[in-house]
Amino acid sequence: MAATFDPGTAPAITFKARNAEAYERVMGQWSRRLAPLLIRFGGLADGDRVVDVGCGTGSLTFTAPQVANVAAVAGIDQAEVYVAHARARNTDPRITIQQADARALPFADAAFDRAFSMLVLQFIPDAARAVAEMRRVVRPGGTVAAAVWDAYGGMLRTRLIWDTAAMLDPAFEPPLFRSLSAPGELVTTWREAGLVDVEETDLVIRMEFADFDDYWTSSTAEGPMFQFVSGLPDSARAALAERVRRAYCANRPDGPRSFASVAWACRGRVPG
Ligand SMILES: C[S@@+](CC[C@H](N)C(=O)[O-])C[C@H]1O[C@@H](n2cnc3c(N)ncnc32)[C@H](O)[C@@H]1O
Repeated sequence: MAATFDPGTAPAITFKARNAEAYERVMGQWSRRLAPLLIRFGGLADGDRVVDVGCGTGSLTFTAPQVANVAAVAGIDQAEVYVAHARARNTDPRITIQQADARALPFADAAFDRAFSMLVLQFIPDAARAVAEMRRVVRPGGTVAAAVWDAYGGMLRTRLIWDTAAMLDPAFEPPLFRSLSAPGELVTTWREAGLVDVEETDLVIRMEFADFDDYWTSSTAEGPMFQFVSGLPDSARAALAERVRRAYCANRPDGPRSFASVAWACRGRVPG
């Protein structure tokens, strides 16, 4: 019998942290690849004090001390489960990790040399407040740098699923446009926050999967895709998976595939 697709009452799509191990599978293993690229773009020097805003399970927090002999790294995230996971992994006394909101950072003005935020601002509706907070806690002359996935034009891994769902149900609107994820939006926001020497670039990594099962189970393990797929009725989920499997395989035997993944990144300097 042909599978039918009925999305039913899927919940609204926002980032809801649920399980840190699942996050590691869906994104942490890949954001660890992105972290050194963002750090190099934002700049990092020995002795720097760094804040990682929306640190999640700690991909950038734990990478910073590998790039330079930093004085301190403070990771914050709103998700208790991710903060607990990152703290449990931490063996470096220079690293502290705490639960906090990016829009109200629990730090004094000018407490850091560098602020980074990786793959977070697209989930904050009033992201400009978070950028203003990053600027506030960085000293004059320090840098504020962030990256967000180009969910519309640079993320084939998830577009395969979103577009297939939209094809199966024309009423479904994939959440491709998110905060600060349109071309030039980061630069405008950085300038409006009073940052200077603002520059934007693309950061590109590859995500690899052993086969369709690896791709599907890891891509839907946590985050917006988990919320969407787990909210579907069983028959709709099965129909979606079957169509996506065909797109993944693309008329070749199931097996390893690699997806380029592009992030917009922006950096700016605190004047003075
Ligand atoms: C895709 S994850 C990125 C995590 C990590 N930076 C990485 O690259 O792996 C998005 C993170 O943003 C966090 N987040 C979303 N809104 C936040 C807010 N208002 N304040 C702090 N963290 C927030 C989530 O809890 C989640 O850990």
